[in-house]
Amino acid sequence: MHTPRLISVLALGLGLLATGCMMQESKPAPANAMASSNTLYARLGGMPAINAVVDDFTNRVATDPELNAGFKNADVPKFKKNLADQICEATGGPCKYAGKNMKEAHKGMKITDAQFNKTGGHLAASLDKFNVAAADKNALLNAIGGMKPDIVNQ
Ligand code: HEM
Repeated sequence: MHTPRLISVLALGLGLLATGCMMQESKPAPANAMASSNTLYARLGGMPAINAVVDDFTNRVATDPELNAGFKNADVPKFKKNLADQICEATGGPCKYAGKNMKEAHKGMKITDAQFNKTGGHLAASLDKFNVAAADKNALLNAIGGMKPDIVNQ
């Protein structure tokens, strides 16, 4: 597993990068990576690693009283699966994201700037928990910033 690199998985999962096929140092791929040894999905440890970050992040958001109103009636396991699949697919893994795009997913929720920023803070905390390097952490936070127009005030 390569959990310290999870921020990169998330950054890609958030849709800022189309594939994980960037130049990388050569590393053995996990046995289940199939042909995707050059993808971030494979490098970062596949679904177990992605699920670990998604779990931690989701639990922080879903237990925050300033953020969790919309999650009270939500199917949290389904949400986690969709988020993990989105990340998996965007990083070159063998998944297909079957959820809505970010604009549709958050339409009508009236998500404020403050809520969005606080969500980013939870993500930062999750990344700290996994000892993600500062540069990778910043990459992810920048990635989230790029999604803001589709999520806030829709
Ligand atoms: C910061 C970046 C964010 C990302 C990457 C993100 C990602 C996602 C994804 C992938 C889904 C699933 C869509 C689907 O199942 O079709 C979703 C749904 C949802 N998001 Fe977000 N989201 C973000 C911010 C927020 C914020 C700030 C809030 C509220 C304060 C929020 C509240 C929700 C809710 C309530 C749902 C629906 C859950 C359900 O009914 O199953 N999200 N989001």
